[in-house]
Amino acid sequence: MSYIRLDNLRKHYSPQYPKVLEKLPIIEEVPTEENIDEALPMFFPSSYDLPMLEFRKGTEQKKSNEYKPINVGVLLSGGQAPGGHNVIAGIFDALKEYHEASRLYGFLMGPGGFLKKQYEELTSETINAYRNSGGFDMIGSDRTKLEKKEDFEKALEVAHSLKLDALVIIGGDDSNTNAALLAEYCHSLGDPLSVIGCPKTIDGDLKNKWIETSFGFDTCVKVFGELVGNIQRDCFSSKKYWHFVKLMGRSASHLTLECALMTQPTVAIISEEVAEHNQSLDDLVQQLADIIVDRSNKGMNFGVVLIPEGLVEFIPRMKKLISELNTVLAENGHKLSLIKKSQIINYLASKLTEESAVFYLSLPKETALQLSMERDPHGNVQVSKIKTEELLVAMTRRELHKRRESGIFNGPFSSMTHFFGYEGRCSMPSNFDSSYCYALGRTATYLAIGKRSGYMAAIRNLVNHPQEWIPSGVPFILMMHLEERKGALKPVIAKSLVDLKGNPFLHFCKERDQWAEEVAFRYPGPIQYYGPSAICDTTTITLRLENKLSVEEDFASLDELAKEKASKQH
Ligand code: FBP
Repeated sequence: MSYIRLDNLRKHYSPQYPKVLEKLPIIEEVPTEENIDEALPMFFPSSYDLPMLEFRKGTEQKKSNEYKPINVGVLLSGGQAPGGHNVIAGIFDALKEYHEASRLYGFLMGPGGFLKKQYEELTSETINAYRNSGGFDMIGSDRTKLEKKEDFEKALEVAHSLKLDALVIIGGDDSNTNAALLAEYCHSLGDPLSVIGCPKTIDGDLKNKWIETSFGFDTCVKVFGELVGNIQRDCFSSKKYWHFVKLMGRSASHLTLECALMTQPTVAIISEEVAEHNQSLDDLVQQLADIIVDRSNKGMNFGVVLIPEGLVEFIPRMKKLISELNTVLAENGHKLSLIKKSQIINYLASKLTEESAVFYLSLPKETALQLSMERDPHGNVQVSKIKTEELLVAMTRRELHKRRESGIFNGPFSSMTHFFGYEGRCSMPSNFDSSYCYALGRTATYLAIGKRSGYMAAIRNLVNHPQEWIPSGVPFILMMHLEERKGALKPVIAKSLVDLKGNPFLHFCKERDQWAEEVAFRYPGPIQYYGPSAICDTTTITLRLENKLSVEEDFASLDELAKEKASKQH
C-alpha cells in the first residue's frame, strides 16, 4: 500500500469560493442606513461616511495586458488562527490572475516587522508550500500596536518605498481597529494606499451583522471538541475523575459554548451568564459542589467541566480587582521589578482599595501572582496564563471538604486539570476555514484592485455551499464604538460576546440540566478532511443555530451512505 502524508496531500486541496469571485467582480456601492455613534466622525473625519460595498459577478477576462500590475503588502497580526496562510494564498492567486506582474510582499513578524520594513516577496513557490496549512509561520505575527502618529508616518514610509497600492492587515478586533486608524490617516492625507482588514481570531468575538464568524474559530473549536470528547470517553470508561478543562478564548465564551454544544459535558460555565447574574467565584463553586454531590449520591463520581479562559474577568469582584491591578502595575512597574517575588502580593495589596485588597489576599498565592503578571501590548491581562481551572478545583475541594465534615458528602473527589488553546490555534484548517480564508483573501484583493480603503473583507451566507457565499466590503466604522482604554475614550471595533438571548445559548440552556444529571457525553472525533460533505464541509453548531437551522442529525443521509457503501461492496 502506498504512503502519503496528509500535510502534503492538503497542499493540493482546492478551496471552494463564491461564484461571484470567479472573475474580476463589479463592486457596487450600497448606501447604508446604519446609525453610528455620533462621536465617531470626530475620530474619522475623512472616512466616516464610506458606503457598503457589494460584489456582482463580472464578465471580464481575468488575465489581460490592459491592466496595470499592482503591489500589495500583507501582514498577520495577533494570535495564530487556522487558515491565515490561505488568506494569503487567496490574495496571491487573485492578484496574479489580475496581472501576472503584480507583486505580493509579506511583512515578517506582524506589524512590528512591517514598521521595521522586514519583508519578503511571496512567490508561487512559497505560497504553494503553505496552502491549506495551519499556523502563521509563512511570515509570522506579533502584537505590536499601530496607533501613534509616528507609527502611521513610518507605515506610509514603508508602503511608499515598496510602491504599495494596498496593505492587507489580517487580525482581530484590535488589529482591525489599527487598520481603521491607518486608513483614516491615509484618507486624511489624500494618500492612495488602500488599507483593508480580514477578520481573524479563534475566539470568535469579531462577529457582527456583517461578519458571521471570524476565521479560525471553526477549526479550533473542532480540535477542542475532539480533545474534550476524548477526555469524556476516558472519564466515562474509568469513572473516577472530575476533569476541569479550561478552553481558550480571551474574553468571550463562544469557543466554550460551541464546544459544549458539540460534546455535551457535565457542566460548561459561560462567562457572559456569570456576569449577567453578578455571580461570585463562591457562587460558582457552590453550584459545582451541588452537582458533584448529587452525582456522587447516584454513584457517579466523575464528570467534565468546561471553563472559558476569560472567566475571571467576568466575575464582578475579580473584574474590579483586575482593573485596580492594571492601574497599580502601570504606575509602579519599575518599583515592582526591584521587589522580591515573595513580597509582590503584599506590596500590590497595599496599593489596592480595602475591598479589593481583602479579596486579593484571600486568593490562592499562585492565582494572586498570576494576576500580577505583565499585560500584553494592548493592555489586556494575559488570561491564558491564569490557571482558572486550578483555582476552581482548589476552591471546590475546599467546599467539598466542608460538606464532608458536615456529613453531606462522602464520595471521592479526584480531579485533573487541562488547558486547551495552543493545541487548536495552529491546527490544519478544516475544509470550511480553508475555503472561507481563501475567499476572504480573494475578496481583499478585489477591494484593493477597486482602490477601496477603510474596509474589512467580509463573507456572508456561510452555512450554505461556498459557491453561494456572499462577499462584501464593510466600512470599519460600521463595526466601531467608543470604549474607555487607559482612562480615555477610544474608537475600537466592538468585541461580540455570547448573546444570552441568542439561539445557541438558549439551546444550551434547554439541554444542560440533563447533561449535569446524567451522562450525555458526545465524542465528535477528529476533523475530517476527506469523505461525505455532511461531515467534512459543514461549519459550527453555533452558526447553524444562529441561522435557525436544525441541529438534529439527518439520518436519511446516513442511511443513504450506508446503502452506497453496501452496494459498492457487492
Ligand atoms: P487574537 O485575539 O489575537 O486572535 O488572539 C487570541 C488568543 O488566542 C486568545 O484566545 C488568547 O488569550 C491569546 O490569544 C493568547 O495570546 P498569546 O499568543 O500572546 O499567548
